[in-house]
Amino acid sequence: MSAHPWSSQRISSFGETVFATFTRLALEHNAVNLGQGFPDFAPPKMIMDAYRAAADEYQQYPPLPGLPALAKTVAEIKAKVTGQTLDSVANVQITVGATEGLFAIMQAFINPGDEVVLLEPFYDAYPADVIMAGGIPVYVPMQPQVNGEWLIDFDDLRKAFSDKTKAIIINSPNNPTGKVFSADEIDKILALATEFDTLIISDEAYEYIAFTPFVSPSSRPGGFERTLTVASIGKTFSVTGWKIGYVVGPAELVKAVRMAHQWIPFTVATPLQLASAVALKQAHQAGDTYFADLAHQFQSKRDILLEGLKGTPFKALSPNGSYFIVADSSELGYKDDLELCYDLPKRIGVVAIPPSAFYSPDHKYLAKHLVRFAFCKTDEALHEASKRFKNL
Ligand SMILES: Cc1ncc(COP(=O)(O)O)c(C=O)c1O
Repeated sequence: MSAHPWSSQRISSFGETVFATFTRLALEHNAVNLGQGFPDFAPPKMIMDAYRAAADEYQQYPPLPGLPALAKTVAEIKAKVTGQTLDSVANVQITVGATEGLFAIMQAFINPGDEVVLLEPFYDAYPADVIMAGGIPVYVPMQPQVNGEWLIDFDDLRKAFSDKTKAIIINSPNNPTGKVFSADEIDKILALATEFDTLIISDEAYEYIAFTPFVSPSSRPGGFERTLTVASIGKTFSVTGWKIGYVVGPAELVKAVRMAHQWIPFTVATPLQLASAVALKQAHQAGDTYFADLAHQFQSKRDILLEGLKGTPFKALSPNGSYFIVADSSELGYKDDLELCYDLPKRIGVVAIPPSAFYSPDHKYLAKHLVRFAFCKTDEALHEASKRFKNL
């Protein structure tokens, strides 16, 4: 469908997200949905109890920076990660999910013509956020290895930086690759950002779903000063529909984000912030065992799906974090990842996502024989999908 003549130029390159398309296909074919990254199981009881209790509390606008109870716990947790003294108002902004945090950051810092460096494959909101702010995404593909690693070519990355670069986005643990960036990689990126004096936007939506040690750029020497960290309560507590997130960073940077945020949603759903505050505080006070358990839970789901993919035409690249497994599908002989993903629901009743959605137009060919499966699903669904893979 072509764009309406009244539509703005800034949205003219956008199509429907692959998540809407493939969730619809899953329903049509009654398929096992390993497409969109949302848990299909109940959230932890503690957050649901907090949610019910919050329903009887205050229902009006919360303060602009966020509900103090939530912002305080965020500040406490992030002070430990960064080694900084953090103020719950000056250094924290509660947002409508990580999504709005990213959008507000771009609105706050990107001028028309500014460049933002994106590693490919990327979470697909990034280019849209950059473009809607008038910026220009500059893409640097990571290279998949047979052992599941995704390598960054630091010579290519350096070439992507110039005096037009305003920011780089890092997403670790990564969607879609599951890559958890090493301290060495983070330090090399930080060195480039320092040399070119740019902002680092660290999308840490899956910070607690890491199976190898997770390193935030905000925790490295000289990192906090130039990093805005974006996080998602939806991922941390398996409540993706709540859309509660936060941005943490130096006061002057957070202030700019707040200036944009106040004209986007203004504030964020009060009862959901309250329930998030109770859950995050409980998780934090329990000596962070909640977070360790969360990682174990997802690691075991990853292992079920990796096992299910063994002996099938999909050659999985084992991820170190996030909800996702990327696999090579060359053996199946499809023209490209779209053809494969449209056919899979009909052929075996499984929905997956075509990773070309996470590449720029010039680099989509790199995803031609890749496919992304989400493993944030019940063990039953993962076993059922594994059975269906055998029908290929
Ligand atoms: C890497 C990444 N960042 C951000 C988001 C959005 O998070 P939220 O639902 O909190 O807006 C997602 C959701 O899938 C994601 O995968």
